[in-house]
Amino acid sequence: MKKITNKMNQTKTASSNEVVSGSMSSITSGSGNETADRSSNKAVNSGADKETILEIRNLTKDYGAKGFRTQALKGIDLTILKNDFIAIMGPSGSGKTTLLNILSSIDKPTQGQVILDGKNIAGISNQELSKLRRDKIGFVFQDYNLLDTMTLQDNIALPLSLNGVPAKRCIERTFELGRMFGLEEHLSKYPYQLSGGQRQRGAVCRALITDPEILFADEPTGALDSKAGKELLRCFQMVNDRKQATILMVTHDAYAASWAKDVYILNDGTVKCRLSRGGDRREFYDRIIDVQASMGGDRA
Ligand SMILES: Nc1ncnc2c1ncn2[C@@H]1O[C@H](COP(=O)(O)OP(=O)(O)OP(=O)(O)O)[C@@H](O)[C@H]1O
Ligand SMILES: [Mg+2]
Repeated sequence: MKKITNKMNQTKTASSNEVVSGSMSSITSGSGNETADRSSNKAVNSGADKETILEIRNLTKDYGAKGFRTQALKGIDLTILKNDFIAIMGPSGSGKTTLLNILSSIDKPTQGQVILDGKNIAGISNQELSKLRRDKIGFVFQDYNLLDTMTLQDNIALPLSLNGVPAKRCIERTFELGRMFGLEEHLSKYPYQLSGGQRQRGAVCRALITDPEILFADEPTGALDSKAGKELLRCFQMVNDRKQATILMVTHDAYAASWAKDVYILNDGTVKCRLSRGGDRREFYDRIIDVQASMGGDRA
């Protein structure tokens, strides 16, 4: 990371494109090494004894037929360790949602391996895949995806009741999560009676009720104002601090990303760099902004 920071300082003092692109390649190769260290299954920055939860190897994704092909992902390697909190950033069209959908088993890669808990999920049956999704994965979407005709309590409990868990246990668990996320007074309301922040926190409760190993979130703060966004990010941090779930979040927003422990920046279907937070969140935010600026835009 030092290497990146040093180069970033050079970028700040220089004004020509040449220096910016020079610094980009340093960032890329710097991060490339870090990614390679991670891909060797040894946790370099996050503690050598941490367990790998999800790995992808040489992942590519093409959309469309020959002649109209879009290469959305162009060979990505990534290792996610237990209790990581990762943000994926990048300009619009850089492949963030495509990557998230493949990591979370919603979509399949064109080439490459996706290894969840030691199993290559590209090779397993649809039945096994549904079980894996049900037991190990939680999703949070930008637009909450709560069912309008159910109360918040029923929305949160839905994945458990679909799994045949007795009603008493569903209610206990819903109240536990509701308390944790400051929703206990709102559980009997319908989604239209809730604020956006309350709806999204409810969606996080619903995603966590099955105790998944990984929580995937695509632009979870995208529809929220800054106060509600901050509350949601606090909840994510609490979940992660309590080691309840590993979190992988896609975001456009450097502020949201600065709550993560590591940020990967995608550009044109490849990982351009990885930043690790280490200490202070504000300092991390400044670093993310610096790297975005060096990549030729203020929005990653
Ligand atoms: N179903 C699809 N068919 C064809 N092309 C697609 C499809 N989905 C995505 N793409 C293309 O793949 C590339 C990556 O798209 P993706 O949605 O992953 O980007 P993104 O980084 O999530 O962008 P945004 O920030 O705008 O959400 C884009 O060029 C997009 O047009
Ligand atoms: Mg997207």
